[in-house]
Amino acid sequence: MNLDFTEEQLMIRDAARDFAQSAIVPIAAAHDESGEFPLDTIRQMGELGLMGIEVPEQYGGASMDTVSYVLALKEISQADAAHGTIMSVNNSLYANGLMKYGTEQQRETFLKPVASGEAIGAYALTEPQSGSDASNMRVRAVRNGDTYVINGKKSWITSGPVARYMVLFARTDVEGEQPAITAFMIDTEKPGFVRGKTEPKLGIRASATCEIELEDYQCPAEWRLGEEGQGFKIAMGVLDAGRIGIAAQAVGIAAAAYECARQYVQERQAFGRPIGTFQMIQAKIADMRCRLEAAELLTLNAALTKVKSKESGARYTLESSMAKLYASEAANFITHQALQIHGGMGYSKEMPLERYYRDAKITEIYEGTSEIQRMVIARLETGLR
Ligand code: CAA
Repeated sequence: MNLDFTEEQLMIRDAARDFAQSAIVPIAAAHDESGEFPLDTIRQMGELGLMGIEVPEQYGGASMDTVSYVLALKEISQADAAHGTIMSVNNSLYANGLMKYGTEQQRETFLKPVASGEAIGAYALTEPQSGSDASNMRVRAVRNGDTYVINGKKSWITSGPVARYMVLFARTDVEGEQPAITAFMIDTEKPGFVRGKTEPKLGIRASATCEIELEDYQCPAEWRLGEEGQGFKIAMGVLDAGRIGIAAQAVGIAAAAYECARQYVQERQAFGRPIGTFQMIQAKIADMRCRLEAAELLTLNAALTKVKSKESGARYTLESSMAKLYASEAANFITHQALQIHGGMGYSKEMPLERYYRDAKITEIYEGTSEIQRMVIARLETGLR
C-alpha cells in the first residue's frame, strides 16, 4: 500500500517491523504451543514505545497518532497475533478511556506504568451472562462514603491473568431509579480482587484470558473514571477505538498468510509447473490481494477519521465498525485460502498457516462480533433500531 505516510509514521512502522521480525517471529510458534505469556517481548515493546503509541510522552507514551498505531500493530500482528492482542488492549481499550476521562492523578497512577510497558492493562466489560448485550451487566458498585464496594464476576478478560490495572464497568443504579453503569479503575493487587480460571483457547494462545471476581473490593471514589452513570458511553466510545485496533490486527494476520501463499504458488510444482499458473490458484491470489488491500484501506480510513475527530469531537463509530467487520472477515477468508493453497503442508504445524487460521477467528468475535458490527452499521445508516 502506497499512501503518503509521514516520516514519523514510517519510523514507528519500521521499528515495529524490525522488532517483530527479529524478536517475535522466532518465538511465536513456541508460545502458541505452550500458551506462555510473552512477558519479555512485551516489556521490550514497551521500551520501543509500542505499548502506548497515542499516549502523550508525559504519561509514558510515544505521542503519536492513530495511523502510526495501526501501522505498528499490523507489523506486530503479522509476526504474531497474540502479541498484537496484548498490544491492542493496552493501547486502545485501556489507555483511551484514561486519556479522555481520566483525572491528572489517575493518569499519573494508572496510565504511566501501562503506556511505558512496565505494567499490563485490561478492560473488564463482559460477564458470563452478557457479551453482546453489554449493558445487561450484574457486577455492582455501591458507594459507601469515599469508597465504592464492588462485587461480581467478569469473564473473558484479555490479559486478565497478568494485568496490574483494569478499567472495569459496574452497575451503580439504585432500585426504582434509571439504570446506571459507571467505570472504575482497579488495582489488581488490592484485596478483594480474585482471578478465576484461565481460558484454554483455539487461537491467540499466548495472550492470557481469564475470569475475575470482585469480592467486596474497596475502590476509592477518586478512582471512578468519569461521572456516575457515564460508564456505558465510555465503554462504547473506547470500543470504537478498540475496533480499529482489531481491524489492524486482522490486516496483520491476513498479510502474513497472504505473503506465505504468494511465495508458495511460485515455488510449488504440480503437474510439471508452478501451481500459480493454474487459474483456480490465480483466482485465489487475486481475491486475497483485493480483500487485503480493501481491509487495510478501511482500517486506515477509520484511523484517519479518529485523528480528525480529536478536534471536532465527532464519533467515528461507523468507520470503526466497517473496518473491524471487513478486516476480520477478510482475515478469515485469506487465512482459509492460504491454508488451502498449501494443502497438507498448510495443515501441518511445521508451517505457520494453521496458526494464522486459528488466530484469525477471534477477530470476528471479540470487541463486538460481526453480527454486532452489522447491527451498528445498519442502525447508523438507516436510523432504525
Ligand atoms: N459512543 C458513544 N456512545 C454510544 C456509542 C458509542 N460508540 N454507542 C452507543 N452509545 C450510547 C447511545 O447513544 C445511547 O445513549 P443515549 O441513551 O443517551 O441515547 C447509549 O449508549 C445506549 O446505546 P444503545 O441503545 O445503542 O445500546 P444497546 O444496549 O442497544 O447496545 C450495542 C448497543 C451496539 C449492541 C453494544 O451493546 C455493543 O457494542 N455490544 C457489543 C459489546 C462488545 O463489543 N463487547 C466486547 C467486549 S470487550 C472485548 O472483547 C475485550 C477484550 O478483552 C479484547
